[in-house]
Amino acid sequence: MGVIIAFVNQKGGCAKTTSAIHFSLALASRNYRVLLIDLDPQGHATLGLGAEIDGDKPTLSEVLMHTPLTGVGPSLEQTMISVRPGLDLVPANLGLAALEAKLASSPGREERLSEHLAQVVPSWDLVFIDCPPNLGLLTINALVAAREAMIPVEPAPFAAQGAERVLDTIEMVKEITGHLVAARLLPVMVSPRDWHAKTSLAQLREKHSGMVVQETVRRSILFARAAAAGKGIGEIAPRARAWGDYQQAAKACASRWENARALQRPRFTGLMTVAGGVSFTHPDLKPEDILLAGEFNGWTPDAGVEVIRGERGSWRKFLAVDPGRYEYKFVYEGRWMPDPGNPRRIRNLHGTHNSLVDVPQSIPEYRVGTGRNLRLT
Ligand SMILES: Nc1ncnc2c1ncn2[C@@H]1O[C@H](COP(=O)(O)OP(=O)(O)O)[C@@H](O)[C@H]1O
Ligand SMILES: [Mg+2]
Repeated sequence: MGVIIAFVNQKGGCAKTTSAIHFSLALASRNYRVLLIDLDPQGHATLGLGAEIDGDKPTLSEVLMHTPLTGVGPSLEQTMISVRPGLDLVPANLGLAALEAKLASSPGREERLSEHLAQVVPSWDLVFIDCPPNLGLLTINALVAAREAMIPVEPAPFAAQGAERVLDTIEMVKEITGHLVAARLLPVMVSPRDWHAKTSLAQLREKHSGMVVQETVRRSILFARAAAAGKGIGEIAPRARAWGDYQQAAKACASRWENARALQRPRFTGLMTVAGGVSFTHPDLKPEDILLAGEFNGWTPDAGVEVIRGERGSWRKFLAVDPGRYEYKFVYEGRWMPDPGNPRRIRNLHGTHNSLVDVPQSIPEYRVGTGRNLRLT
């Protein structure tokens, strides 16, 4: 499953696009499968990579007009073009500028990009989103989809204030949608010998301790030159030190994302289909803290659920279910939520999402019977 990162800052000219492009190039050349989404109607990432637009393809704004759940309209995949080995791009188009107004009264408009990404994200290791220079609906869509917001900041007096507005927006996204985005500040355009920059950077690290990326990207005139040529700076000057900076920063961030993924994955794998029904466990919670409710048990939390207890407090819950398709949710500390371990979701009448599971006719690995056949790990 890919990790989605949004490059965001409402300020223009602070190196969002430059960072998104160079992270993409650096990590694609390290054999990550990378998808870059140009969400800025100005299309700077598209131009900066020298991408050739195919006029016959559907555009990103056409894709975002419709939710993928209805099956109407083009898919995100249809818009993609391959721009380098290992790097695919969803190019921007001018229609994105009008999209905010068109979507204004549409329910679930903040989740549109997230829904489309959920259909394709497993095919990429990393998905980067280059946001427009404002905190409008497109940026909100990116934040709702993303695991992490990467905020490029130039260490200068008052630079921290711009970052603060992004952090406020992230807080707002959490309140509106319940989606929590981690935030990182990436120091860019750092002049090595500038004493003011040094002081500002130290202040930034002190103010937002733990949030500032350790690696910094120095200032270089090569960035503007490379962008004009539709290339990354490593493609016009492989030995440029600023290219080395981006490679270092991207490498460090990627290994952090991978570790976070490794940590998160086994934590909660969500609902599994097993012989004769469905099953789940959680390594950090007690069985009474997380309950299962869905069409298979009349939406009554834990109705019919059997708790199988193992060694050292481990447990697994099992519910016998006939083959078929079911909508469900978990109830965690009294709050209903879709299954975080399951990307398949469907919008319900309340405008939130239910998870979706298909219980197959038979599962060959297990003997069909009750949950007692399950082994606890
Ligand atoms: N480290 C850097 N040193 C010098 N110029 C830079 C650097 N990073 C970006 N730039 C230049 O600054 C300008 C704005 O960068 P851009 O990435 O387009 O910002 P944004 O996407 O935030 O609007 C561009 O001309 C770009 O080439
Ligand atoms: Mg930009």
